[in-house]
Parts: sequence; C-alpha cells; structure tokens
Amino acid sequence: MSNDAATVHPVPEATMQGAHVFGMAAHQALVAEAEADYGGYWARLAREFVTWKTPFTKSLDDSNAPFFKWFEDGTLNVSYNCLDRNVERGLGGKVAIVFEADDGQVTRVTYSDLLARTCRLANALKARGVKKGDRVVIYMAMSIEGVVAMQACARIGATHSVVFGGFSAQSLRDRIEGAGAVMVITADEQVRGGKQLPLKAIVDDAIALGGCESVKDVIVYRRTGGKTGWHPSRDHWMHDETEGQPEVCEPEWVGAEHPLFLLYTSGSTGKPKGVQHSTGGYLLHAALTTKWTFDIRDDDVFWCTADIGWVTGHTYIAYGPLALGATEVVFEGVPTYPDAGRFWKMIQDHKVSVFYTAPTAIRSLIKLADASDAVHPKSYDLSSLRILGSVGEPINPAAWEWYHRNVGGGRCPIVDTFWQTETGGHMITPLPGATPLVPGSCTLPFPGIAAAIVDETGNDVPNGQGGILVVKKPWPSMIRTIWGEADRFKSSYFPPELKGYYLAGDGAIRDPGNGYFTITGRIDDVLNVSGHRMGTMEIESALVSCTDLVAEAAVVGRPDDTTGEAICAFVVLKGERPTGAAAKKIATELRNWVGREIGPIAKPKEIRFGDNLPKTRSGKIMRRLLRSLAKDEEITQDTSTLENPAVLAQLAEKN
Ligand code: WT7
Repeated sequence: MSNDAATVHPVPEATMQGAHVFGMAAHQALVAEAEADYGGYWARLAREFVTWKTPFTKSLDDSNAPFFKWFEDGTLNVSYNCLDRNVERGLGGKVAIVFEADDGQVTRVTYSDLLARTCRLANALKARGVKKGDRVVIYMAMSIEGVVAMQACARIGATHSVVFGGFSAQSLRDRIEGAGAVMVITADEQVRGGKQLPLKAIVDDAIALGGCESVKDVIVYRRTGGKTGWHPSRDHWMHDETEGQPEVCEPEWVGAEHPLFLLYTSGSTGKPKGVQHSTGGYLLHAALTTKWTFDIRDDDVFWCTADIGWVTGHTYIAYGPLALGATEVVFEGVPTYPDAGRFWKMIQDHKVSVFYTAPTAIRSLIKLADASDAVHPKSYDLSSLRILGSVGEPINPAAWEWYHRNVGGGRCPIVDTFWQTETGGHMITPLPGATPLVPGSCTLPFPGIAAAIVDETGNDVPNGQGGILVVKKPWPSMIRTIWGEADRFKSSYFPPELKGYYLAGDGAIRDPGNGYFTITGRIDDVLNVSGHRMGTMEIESALVSCTDLVAEAAVVGRPDDTTGEAICAFVVLKGERPTGAAAKKIATELRNWVGREIGPIAKPKEIRFGDNLPKTRSGKIMRRLLRSLAKDEEITQDTSTLENPAVLAQLAEKN
C-alpha cells in the first residue's frame, strides 16, 4: 500500500499562514529537538505552557519504569492554570464557554464568571469535608456545571472520576466503589433530544446496590426540577451549597504527579480499568496538543462535540481549551434534534472556527443530509470554519471526503487524531499548518511522541508491513497506573516481550513512501461502537449474569457502516433454543438486560441462539468463527478441530 499522490491534500498555505507549527520543516525541527534532548524538549514546553507555583528541577524520572514520573518536584494547580491565569492576563471578560442547551437556549460564561463559580463550588466541597486526594465521582450531563465540578475538584486537589451519564446504576456503582469516592456530584435529570432522563435516581439506585459506603454526600445540580427521591442526610442541592460561598478560593498547590483524575475504560479482560492521570504532565499535553493540533488562536471558537464522560471531553473541553484561554462551545443535546442540521446550525450561529467530532456522527449525518437538503451542510453558512477534527475510531476515506467537501468547503484541513484514554492527549495526528493530509491516515506522531510499529517480539517492522502499535518512550500525559491495580497496569501496557514499550492495543501500518500511519483497529477483545470503547468480556459477563435465562455467551464485533463496529452476541440458553417469535422476544429481553447492567451503548445489535457455541476439543470458544458468522461470511476456516460443527448452521441463522 502506498499513498497515491492523487489522494494527498496539501496544506492550504494561504489560509494556514501564521500557524503555530507552519510547514513540514518546522514540524521536523520539533521532532529533531525531541530526539536530540528528550527531557529538555518536554521541559521547555512544560515551562512555556504551564504556570508552576514552584518550578520543577527534573523532567523525566524513569528510575522505577514503567511507573514514570514527570516534573515531579514542581507544584501547580490545574484550575489556576485554566482560570486565574487567564483573568490575570486580562482575559476575565472573554467568553470561556458558550453553552447551548438541548432546547437551543444559549448561556455565555466569561473567564471571570467561570473562576467565581468554580471557587464557590470548591468552597462548598471543602465545607463538606472534601480534601486533597479524596475521590469525587461526577455523574452529569453536558453542562457548565459539569465543567465547573471538574475544575472545582482540581482546585482543591480532589481527584475526580467522571462517569458517562449513559452508564447504568450497576456500572456507576462499580466505579464509585472502585474509586472509593467520598462524594457524588450529579443533576436531577438530563435533557437530550427533547427528553428528560434521570441522573439522580440512578445515583440512588447505584448506592442502594451496596458497596458505596464511602459516599458521604451527593450534590445535586437542579437542571429540570423533575421529581427525584431525597435522602436528607446525604443529598444537597448545588445551589444551596454554593449560596453565600466566597468567590475566591486559594488553589491547593499539588505536586506534578498528584492524580488529577481517574477515568474508567474498558479492557479486553475483567472489570473496567481506572486509568489514573497526573496533574503536570497531563496539563502540559492537554494545552500543547490543543494549541498545535487545532492551531488555536485568540479569536477562535472551538467546539469539541464529545461528552465530558469520555477522555475527549476531559482533555479538549474541561482542560485544554481553558488552559489556552480559548472560547469554546459546550452542547447539551444530540446531533439529530430538533433535526439533523443541528451541528451545522450551531457552527453557523456561534461562528465556530475549529470543529472536532467523531466519524460515527459524520456517517450518520451523511445519510440524513442525503435524504433532505434542509439538513445538508450546504444549507448553512459554515464559512467561519478553519479546521476540522476527527477522533475515536478510524475515519473511512469516503466520510473524510464528504466532511472535507461539505462541511469544510474544501478549504479546511481535517486533523484525524489518534489517541486513547490512557494517552491523555493526541499521539498521532496531522498538524494543520504542516502536514499534507491523506484521507484515512492519522499521518505522523505528534512531535516528541515515539510511536512505532513492531512485531510480537518488539522488533521494528518495515514500512508497508502491518504490526503492533507501540510508543517507545514515556511521554508526559501517559497513564500513571490503573487505580489500585499496579500489576494489571504493568501487564496490560508493558508486556515483557515488548522491550518496555507502551502497548496501545491497536494494529497499524506505515506507508512505504511517506511513513504515514494508518490504524487498522484493535488487536485485543476491545470493541469500538460509535467511538465508545467496550470489552467483549464485559458484555459476556452481563449476559451470563442473567442467570434465569443464559447458560453461556460469546460476543464479537462486526463491521458496521454507521457505528464502525456493531456488537453481535451468540447465546446458549438454559432452556431450549428459541426460534421465530420466541427468539425475537428473548433477544429483546436480553438486550434490555445488558442495557440495565452496563448502559444502552452496550446493547448487542444482534443476538443469535445456539444449542452450544463452537468450541475446540479443549473447550476453547472459536471466536474467529464467530466473527465470520457475525459477518454472514461463508465459513472457509478449518472446522475439523470443532467439537460440535452442527451448531454453526444454528448460529448462522438470524432472528
Ligand atoms: C481507541 C481508544 C481518543 C479518545 C476517544 C477514544 C480508537 C481513537 C482513533 C483514530 C483510529 C482511533 C483506537 C484506540 N481510536 N482515535 N483517530 N483513528 N482509531 O478513546 O475510548 O480510550 O478508545 O479508539 O482503537 O485504541 P478510547
């Protein structure tokens, strides 16, 4: 495979003049600087991008690999860097957040306002006894208050763990227990697509499930005024808590390695992992990548459509843009309400100049735009746009071209950013003023990131040959550990056979001509459905926990035009194998069960039933076969080792 010259989109030099990194020579100079003096390169940037209370004297400490430390003896506060610092620079009156509610109502918050609100909530948390190092779970929808809650935790040195508002009571319970949270911050309800959905009630359910005894207080932001249960000794309205609190709150100066947040994410085995991030190194990469990858300038209006429940919403909503003093849009609703033109209308209304979204959203909007001109981007004035971004999964070249032409008017570079919850920020991405683009390729490592492709023994593979994506050197915003599971951290990310390299879990290939990276997808049992990451084992566990019905279950992914991958479950029931209407009914029941156990995003798209699963004589489930069945492929694999070949015909049958 070689990047055909016809597919290369050169940098639009006229419009990208003055970019923070302009031209490939500037890009290469940064890469060379990092190669010549790795610690010095990151130290220079850490001084430029972060304001330290006490400066660090050492950049990287690798004496206890893979537990790397960065800028360890420096002290700082993230909230100071995102808020006070901008006010001190004279940006107090600048709009920090343009919030658009589901119903279209717009609220603007300046940097001074955001600082005051953060301080009042921080003081309220302190008044409830929350201290440095305590964990606080945030279970909120997209809101100003959600960002304020994260900033308030950062201000007092409490470690937040945001749980996506689509997760079930059971998933929330697991994360509260895992983190040992002393407090949960939530809202009465959330509003999405014209519907009111519960949040506080799910917190109550989660706590009622048991194991959350560490939680002393639940702070509730009143979003809708909808009815919720109330435990007077535990529950407090946010507006009551913050009333009368001072608008100043001295930041808690913490060491650079202090855990800013935990964020649970799925792995290939076991329960979700609590990815622990640092303060100093994380903030550096959040600010740096926001500036270089999106070429953020003073008058930009940045909009990242992610949810604060995912890492993208942490780095590119709650922290990166604010650390730069940028103006950003925060959106409560969904892209298809009141119609599928919502994104385009919001770009037009708020004069968004940098827009960052996921391929799955683009693909679903393409279909709707094709069906109706009224919701096609061409019906809106999108001339404010300068740069487009993509994140979460590979973007297929057809979607890339559509996005480029119809949203970007053919003039906006698309930065296809590859990274992960564990990496804290962009790892492989174009820089819009420097990197010629190839649709479907995330192009080159961010300057200083030692991404490479190796074989199973950690040796480099030549370009043009696929392999395992690794990062050869530690970087400032990398995962520090899995909360409470240091051994699992080591074995998951630094397997001994890979020479101490960080294992990303994705396959990749480099172009023989220009060395560009293309991500070929996960090499483990992690699925990516609409950019949401899920472990097959988690879904299998949820299915078999329906002990009344299910004897055994296996879950695989299959390619899907809109969601990237779709979940397909193969289930053996305790009773007889159902067919026809009975099968449909049980499939619906099981889908809802999984929705309740994990969250709606984990519901299998398809469930098929067999008297058994295809296994080898040693009892191993043959997942390769299941993947072929899920794709409705003819089985060409060798099935001679199969214990029970007859089940294949059953499992090929759709309900
Ligand atoms: C996995 C990480 C990155 C923040 C949101 C998802 C896939 C992510 C890309 C991309 C191809 C991508 C990978 C990765 N992925 N971005 N630009 N091209 N694949 O974070 O939930 O931790 O998922 O998402 O498979 O490992 P996450």
